[in-house]
Amino acid sequence: MGKRLDKVLSNMGYGTRKEIKSIIKKGRVKVDEKVIKDSSMHIDPYENHIEIDGVKLVYREVVYIMMNKPQGVISATFDSRMETVVDLLDPAYHIFEPFPVGRLDKDTEGLLILTNDGKLSHELLSPKKHVPKTYYAHIEGIVDEKDQIAFKNGVTLEDGYKTLPAELNIIKGDEISEIELTIYEGKFHQVKRMFESVGKKVTYLKRIAMGDLKLDKDLELGEYKELTQEELEKLKNR
Ligand code: URA
Repeated sequence: MGKRLDKVLSNMGYGTRKEIKSIIKKGRVKVDEKVIKDSSMHIDPYENHIEIDGVKLVYREVVYIMMNKPQGVISATFDSRMETVVDLLDPAYHIFEPFPVGRLDKDTEGLLILTNDGKLSHELLSPKKHVPKTYYAHIEGIVDEKDQIAFKNGVTLEDGYKTLPAELNIIKGDEISEIELTIYEGKFHQVKRMFESVGKKVTYLKRIAMGDLKLDKDLELGEYKELTQEELEKLKNR
């Protein structure tokens, strides 16, 4: 059955249905090498070869973006006062209506996935799936083996919630400690609250991995890229 040519092109951001009609009428669109003047023609956008002004259209309906979230922006799609992670994307991505998968605090940096794939997002966030998330952090206070054991057994947060076992790796135990922590759930402010429960304070927080997917080291803060097929598999294979 396929989809209407004008609908496919407008969904891809080439203009309104009216604008597309005019582009097509002018003979600027080819399907399988032939100039098409009928906007209502049905095509299979994955199978047919579509060209606009001689440039091949690569059709897709979903996007998967990895961002190295900077501090100072919020993990939301829209906010009337504050800059959001979606605001950082090139407007060309806005037609896909991407949203962040879960939230990082305003002052947290690092790996954030943005997509319009609701199913994948749900799977990554579902409390039943226990997708591991790894954070790198600076902690005020000497982090030691006692904290490692406490986190392994689960700690009780200030609201009475007992966390699942988490893995604490101490990179440097000092006045300002450096650690990596892997948690298997995603409660509000979880990492900060876990350290509060052992009397310590997170002063810097960055997510470095989600599932098997690691933050690409080449991404500067505020930069993003589309996931490669291999990276997407890592996320999906959870
Ligand atoms: N834990 C936190 O405390 N903050 C985050 O942004 C993510 C995990």
